[in-house]
Amino acid sequence: MQIHTTIRSLQAALADSGRIAFAPTMGNLHAGHISLMRNAQAHADTIVSSIFVNRIQFGPNEDFDRYPRTFQADCEKLEANGVHHVFAPDEQELYPSPQQYFVRPANAHDSILEGAVRPGHFQGVTTIVNKLFNIVGPDVALFGKKDYQQLMIIRNMVRELNMPIEIIGCETVRAEDGLALSSRNGYLSPAERAEAPRLAAVLRTVADAVLAGGSNYEALESRARQTLEEHGWQPDYVAIRNRSDLQAPRESETLVVLAAARLGATRLLDNLEIG
Ligand code: PAJ
Repeated sequence: MQIHTTIRSLQAALADSGRIAFAPTMGNLHAGHISLMRNAQAHADTIVSSIFVNRIQFGPNEDFDRYPRTFQADCEKLEANGVHHVFAPDEQELYPSPQQYFVRPANAHDSILEGAVRPGHFQGVTTIVNKLFNIVGPDVALFGKKDYQQLMIIRNMVRELNMPIEIIGCETVRAEDGLALSSRNGYLSPAERAEAPRLAAVLRTVADAVLAGGSNYEALESRARQTLEEHGWQPDYVAIRNRSDLQAPRESETLVVLAAARLGATRLLDNLEIG
C-alpha cells in the first residue's frame, strides 16, 4: 500500500491503474469504514481511500479540533483490507488559499434534517467530495448508509452534475447491541455507551409499527422522540421520509426512518430503511 500526501504523487501512481474504486474518510477507522474497503474489491482493480478531516464541513462550535486522529492505526487497517493507495493530504494541499468556490445542494436537500441542525455542513461535504473526485478520478465511489442524507446528496449531486461515477451505498455496520459504529462513539462515557443502543431500538420500533400498517407517521415520530427524552436524550429529529429525496412520504415510495439525538455532550445519528 502506498501513502500519498500530495496530489501529484497520487495522480502519478494512479496512471494506468484500471478501474478505480474510492472510499473517502476522515480517519479514526472502524469496521464500518472497513466494510466500504471490502465492498470496493468487487468493483475495481485499484482501491483508493482518503483520510482528511475536512474543516469546512464542521460548524464553528463543532468538534473539528478534538476529532480523533489515529493515522498510524488507520493505515494498518487499510493495508490489511486490500487498499492500494491512501491519500492523506494536509490542509495546505487541499486548501492552499481560502476556498472561494463551493458546490451546494439546493435548500430542499440542504436545509432539512442534518442540514437544519448543521448549517453549511453539506456544502462542506459536497465541496470536498467534488475536489476528491476530481483528484482521484474514480469509476466507483462507496459511501455508508449510516450517513443517509450525505449518501442521498452525493447520489443526486453526481447525477445532476453528470459526473461519470457510480455511487454505491453500503449497509450500516453495528455493534452487537445494535449501536451504529461511529468515530464519535468514543466520546461516550460508560453509562452513555450502555444507553446508546436505544437509538437503534427506537428506530426499529418505528419501522415495525409502519410495517404493521401504522400510517399516522407524526404520532409514531413524536412517540419515539418522547421515549428518547424519557431516557435522558435530547432528540433533534425522528423523521419518516422517502428514501430517494428524504422529503415527506408520498404514495408508492419506499421509506426510511432517520434520527439524530444528543446523549450528554455527544450527538448520535442513525437510520433504518423500512421494509
Ligand atoms: P467519515 O465519517 O469518516 O465516514 C466515511 C465513510 O464511512 C462515510 O461514507 C460513512 O457513511 C461511512 N461509515 C461511517 N460509519 C459507518 C458504519 N457504521 N457503517 C457503514 N458505513 C459507515 O462521512 C465522512 O467521513 C465525510 O463526510 C466524508 C464523506 C469523508 C467527506 O469529508
